[in-house]
Amino acid sequence: MCSRLGVLVSDEVFSADWLALREAADHRSRAHELADRLGRTGQAAGWTHVLDLGSGTGSNLRYLAPRWPWVRSWTLLDHDARLLGAASAPGIADPIRLVGDLAAEGVDAISSADVVTASALLDLVSEEWMTRVVDACAARGAAALFTLSYDGSIDWRDEDPDDGLVREAMNAHQRREKGIGRALGPDATVVADRLFREAGYKTCLRPSPWILNGLKDRELTLALMQGWIEASIELRPTDADRLRAWQSRRAATVQAGAYEVMVGHCDVLAVPSDP
Ligand SMILES: C[S@@+](CC[C@H](N)C(=O)[O-])C[C@H]1O[C@@H](n2cnc3c(N)ncnc32)[C@H](O)[C@@H]1O
Repeated sequence: MCSRLGVLVSDEVFSADWLALREAADHRSRAHELADRLGRTGQAAGWTHVLDLGSGTGSNLRYLAPRWPWVRSWTLLDHDARLLGAASAPGIADPIRLVGDLAAEGVDAISSADVVTASALLDLVSEEWMTRVVDACAARGAAALFTLSYDGSIDWRDEDPDDGLVREAMNAHQRREKGIGRALGPDATVVADRLFREAGYKTCLRPSPWILNGLKDRELTLALMQGWIEASIELRPTDADRLRAWQSRRAATVQAGAYEVMVGHCDVLAVPSDP
């Protein structure tokens, strides 16, 4: 999921530290079989060019490049030149780095891509942008793999009476304007799946939940909670004391490594009916 904190520096500007903090959880949580299935399809079809939208520092590239050795050219697109400048992956000498906006250069770049991919992005985008992306993919005959989109579920192993308050505020915040229209938030994957099917694609949805627990995920979980609380208080300032009290209770168990939380994400694969 896209989150805030010292994470989101300002609206839709993400810190490299946050992207690095989440990378291990992202990579282990993905629906690996969807990437592998698309890899086999791409190799058989003789595809060569992959476009990664909202690439940040290249986490999606680092996950996909070893699995898709047939790719000859990677294009990374992001509006943050600083993040793009830091993008690299072992064995990928020179990805093409495109500084641009998802709604302009991002949609245009699809016209030369065989595969369009993105990770941790769809919950930020609007249905209108998603429709343009699906239309551009269909016009080109490109496949798509959109991974790690937040699906609205946050489930703690041990319940707290205010878990629901935080989750509802977070989900409402997720659906606000994020720079490219009213964000799809938790509905993103389902909407992308429907739009691709309406365009004649074969699609496949798979869960890709973060399961966070123990000391190994402590820093990520604390950062995530901080982002949730900032978002929740922004939306419900009158509940600020209650929300901060929830954070203190949760932080005590997270600090001790005595917690487990499932943060729901979903991946969607869309392949043209005749690749
Ligand atoms: C949550 S981050 C995910 C980054 C990366 N895909 C990953 O998995 O680590 C979302 C990315 O989308 C980029 N982004 C957000 N809005 C954008 C826009 N309107 N145009 C281009 N990039 C955008 C941000 O700069 C950020 O790198």
